[in-house]
Amino acid sequence: LRANRPYPQWTVMKLPSFFYKPLAIGAPAPYRELPVALERMIHFFPGHNEKLRSRLGEIIPQVDVLLGNLEDAIPADAKEAARKGVIEVGKSHDFGSTGFWVRINPLNSPWMLDDVTELVAEIGDKLDVIMLPKVEGAWDIHYLDQLLAQLEAKHGLKKPLLIHAILETAQGVKNVEEIACASPRMHGMSLGPADLAASRKMKTTRVGGGHPFYRVLEDPKEDGSPRIAAQQDLWHYTFAKMVDACVANDIRPFYGPFGDIQDAEACEQQFRNAFLMGCVGAWSLHPNQIAIAKRVFSPDPDEVQFAKRILEAMPDGTGVAMIDGKMQDDATWKQAKVIVDLAKKVGA
Ligand code: GLV
Ligand code: MG
Repeated sequence: LRANRPYPQWTVMKLPSFFYKPLAIGAPAPYRELPVALERMIHFFPGHNEKLRSRLGEIIPQVDVLLGNLEDAIPADAKEAARKGVIEVGKSHDFGSTGFWVRINPLNSPWMLDDVTELVAEIGDKLDVIMLPKVEGAWDIHYLDQLLAQLEAKHGLKKPLLIHAILETAQGVKNVEEIACASPRMHGMSLGPADLAASRKMKTTRVGGGHPFYRVLEDPKEDGSPRIAAQQDLWHYTFAKMVDACVANDIRPFYGPFGDIQDAEACEQQFRNAFLMGCVGAWSLHPNQIAIAKRVFSPDPDEVQFAKRILEAMPDGTGVAMIDGKMQDDATWKQAKVIVDLAKKVGA
């Protein structure tokens, strides 16, 4: 699909480097080179809030990605003010190595078309990624892809804008594989647990995390003592499906929002589950969540040390070695390489 796209310049720029260079034996394929190497947190700001906008100068150097939000959480009568606010932010900041994204309104809203046309015209060269909510199928991505191609040509943009889809409807989950490869512009995907819960008619009012009633009860005790009920992960199936679809198509998987801002511990646990399952980052909705995401999506120093020992024990990535009584082989070498490569990016 990628090779046949009608953007010759774009295709040359964006084809992953491993299309040209052979990989080391057994090395896991790297993600395509993207505008920002690390994307541990996508930090949201509401475009219409002047007070929060005035603090962005301090926030930008602390985050991997800054995102101006135009969609949910922005009242209908503030949609235009939010768009103007994001444009102002784009014009007035130098983002350095921080990514700059925007979450536009959904395709079936009255604001989406103006969001895209105005943003590309005004700050197209500042923006890296457009986050598209409520994506249901490849057709949604195709529409935005074509619209962006037209606007990029019209405004003479120097680099292509990428698309990040939010996976937050039952229909989207059903079509996740087609969505992941719908365009060479695909950057990645975030799991949106709030809209997904609504779309699936789940019985919860939470934004991500667990639920006290979603649990498995241990078997009855002979002595009649109380049975332990452990909470289960509501999102496991979707994560697994999304991560496979993303990685198989060389795009990046993310966890989305965690709504209970006060509960830093549960946020950290939700982020950590995502990290362990293969996600590269999560959204931060409040400055408190920035440090949580940075900590969770950077590899643990003890894990890095152990992973380095595996690489050293098997210099060409083949064979078998025992380390601390644990068997290592080509597969654990590849696992270790994922961790060591990430540690290098993080500078750990
Ligand atoms: C995010 O947009 C969500 O619905 O969880
Ligand atoms: Mg949503």
